[in-house]
Amino acid sequence: MPLNTRSARTVKNSPVELILALAIVALLLVAPLRTAAAASDLEEGRSLAKEWCSSCHMVAPGVAASTTDAAPPFPKMATDPAYTEERLRSWLWAPHPPMPDFDLSRFEIESLVAYIKSLDSN
Ligand code: HEC
Repeated sequence: MPLNTRSARTVKNSPVELILALAIVALLLVAPLRTAAAASDLEEGRSLAKEWCSSCHMVAPGVAASTTDAAPPFPKMATDPAYTEERLRSWLWAPHPPMPDFDLSRFEIESLVAYIKSLDSN
């Protein structure tokens, strides 16, 4: 069976193919984890917003209105094109008074931005 012998030798002598195969398997394993991480960002954003932002902002449609008129409601930020993700990011990185600086981590900022923008679909 000359054909089988040859293909067996090809695989054996080709560590590159093995590495490629392992890389593909690794990518397939990692892809769902990345999706799960994105979902938990959203959850993180939701709970941060409830905990830290809801005393001034309306943080979800239908919940108690903003306690201060000065703080724009999150659902408005989700739909108003003036509030780009970049604008939200740089604001949260360095907010101005009267909004307090929470000294948010990059992960917290990304989670909050993802959460605020997710309100768009409601
Ligand atoms: C003590 C009240 C207070 C709290 C708490 C607060 N904010 Fe604010 N926030 C404000 C006010 C007031 C403004 C409007 C500031 C202005 O327009 O000058 C504002 C504005 C913003 C803006 C819009 C900035 C822009 O570009 O116009 C974003 C985004 C924002 N807040 C996000 C948050 C998030 C996220 C949290 C929770 C981590 C939070 N805020 C907590 C009072 C607050």
